[in-house]
Amino acid sequence: MLDSLLKEQSKFNWDAFYSERERPVPFFVNAPDENLVHYFKNNLLSSAGKILELGCGPGRNAIYFAKQGFEVDAVDLSKEALQWGSERAKEQNVCIHFMYKNIFELEIIDSDYDVIYDSGCFHHIAPHRRIDYVSLIQRALKPGGYFGLTCFVENGPLGGSDISDWEVYRQRSLKGGLGYTPEKLETIFKDLQVIEIRKMKDIEQPNECFGSSGLWTALFQKKNVN
Ligand SMILES: C[S@@+](CC[C@H](N)C(=O)[O-])C[C@H]1O[C@@H](n2cnc3c(N)ncnc32)[C@H](O)[C@@H]1O
Repeated sequence: MLDSLLKEQSKFNWDAFYSERERPVPFFVNAPDENLVHYFKNNLLSSAGKILELGCGPGRNAIYFAKQGFEVDAVDLSKEALQWGSERAKEQNVCIHFMYKNIFELEIIDSDYDVIYDSGCFHHIAPHRRIDYVSLIQRALKPGGYFGLTCFVENGPLGGSDISDWEVYRQRSLKGGLGYTPEKLETIFKDLQVIEIRKMKDIEQPNECFGSSGLWTALFQKKNVN
């Protein structure tokens, strides 16, 4: 009921959004997030394993994980994005298991993943779905596994609406994507250990990495249960 109340949840057409590949959309570049590359260079993430990417779009970060030796499951609800991602993966000779699904309809095996990564999907998730989102991360991650996130800075250069959760339902809109603060992220993901929260670095294109200071980057670790 609440999903259908929100205009963008029911109407935003991601397939149309991805259908013109030449548009100057910053994240259409085929380069991984700078924070993700930083995690590997600084051994915050190291040994390969199994990774789930939520809202993978055309696969730029999934491709990077595959190149680091990970087994990659990458999910998105846009067929157009997944088609583009499959073409990119083929060109770069990497294997990715793309899944055409809503993240809330995934059939998850408990503790299946070493890493979960989300670049730009979470800020499109409605407040009433956050509980499901957090529970998906908690269930799907192995104890000691990592969750990496990039999301809009509140009132930042990329938008990042600062409206309250209540206003979301009153205005029936996420206003193009919700903005967050480090405090809000720490509260939402309070059962995870914070490894690092910082702004993404601005990176001029073309470059081997993507970066925009309109995004927070966060790396969390699932606590080991004794
Ligand atoms: C801003 S784009 C980011 C794409 C990609 N992660 C990147 O950085 O290039 C957000 C993506 O999340 C996907 N998405 C949004 N809500 C989703 C949901 N409930 N389930 C699966 N994918 C979703 C959209 O289709 C879109 O591709």
